[in-house]
Amino acid sequence: MKYNVAVVGATGMVGNKFLEILEERNFPIKNLYLFASKRSAGKNLTFKGKDFIVEELKEENIKNKEIDFALFSAGGSVSLQYAPIFSNYGITVIDNSSAWRMDPSIPLVVPEVNPEDINWNKGIIANPNCSTIQAVVALKPLYEKYGIKRIVYSTYQAVSGAGMGGFSDLKEGYNGTAPNKFPYPIAGNILPHIDVFTDNGYTKEEIKMINETQKILHNDDLRITATTARVPVFYGHSESINVELEKPFDLKDIFELYNDAENIILKDDIENLVYPMPIDCEGHDQVFIGRIRRDFSIENGLNLWVVADNIRKGAATNAVQIAEYIINQNK
Ligand code: A2P
Repeated sequence: MKYNVAVVGATGMVGNKFLEILEERNFPIKNLYLFASKRSAGKNLTFKGKDFIVEELKEENIKNKEIDFALFSAGGSVSLQYAPIFSNYGITVIDNSSAWRMDPSIPLVVPEVNPEDINWNKGIIANPNCSTIQAVVALKPLYEKYGIKRIVYSTYQAVSGAGMGGFSDLKEGYNGTAPNKFPYPIAGNILPHIDVFTDNGYTKEEIKMINETQKILHNDDLRITATTARVPVFYGHSESINVELEKPFDLKDIFELYNDAENIILKDDIENLVYPMPIDCEGHDQVFIGRIRRDFSIENGLNLWVVADNIRKGAATNAVQIAEYIINQNK
């Protein structure tokens, strides 16, 4: 069986990656429809060697089409407005923005962690924040086997997470061009600031990591804190995760756990200087884990270094995996 698929925000950083990943994974597509803003209407994008014309996103351009899945990555306000419209036409929306993630009636899903939540969707499924996705993939095996008391996240996030604008701020910044997307230069710099600041001093990105982790692991009492920073890296978010487990553990069992886990690649051989780095993870769909070591300052403490391609597993791949899960359930 083949499906009609729409990509909303097709000209953007994640939109482009949706097309690449649908092609790579040979997603069973009957018809493909591409939507973006009015500015891009009429533009051509290639999929499987064929040209497709980008259409302006408006209800008129949707209502006469038969669409099964819509993959959205055109920002929060577009999702807030259009995801319900698509869903009213019976289209399953998988939304990469933060618009619907914390809505209790909408599942927030990472297929390696909580695929069962896909089953109660009512037409919209939210894709988590890029830094949350790779973190929960790493935490899930620990959570199941040992339980988790507390998590401390510190992130080192690539500029592509801020879309085309973030990418060009870094690229052009090295030539001395002033930034457009970020408030300060990112070339040769680190900004301890992702998304807007909230009243309690945290950024929205930090709050997203905390709230989304609790929602995905179905545990609102989980104690979590986070500091998120933008670093001059094009692709691949890195995260230091300090975790306090409920139960005692043997380090060698943690290594075994990760060796056996789905879509996790263990890269931890310090004698040979093997550890995950963004340049090695770019272009891959797995989550890479290394620098695994005991935190001696607390009981049952563990430190991890977790890296993944933020545009692939952190966004496009995760959304396509959700659609694949639905297709497999319906077989
Ligand atoms: P466009 O290229 O026409 O502006 P990124 O996050 O990489 O900047 O990409 C954002 C994506 O969202 C782009 O495809 C962009 O299209 C799309 N987009 C932005 N605003 C709208 C809108 N109002 N309606 C539809 N698509 C939009």
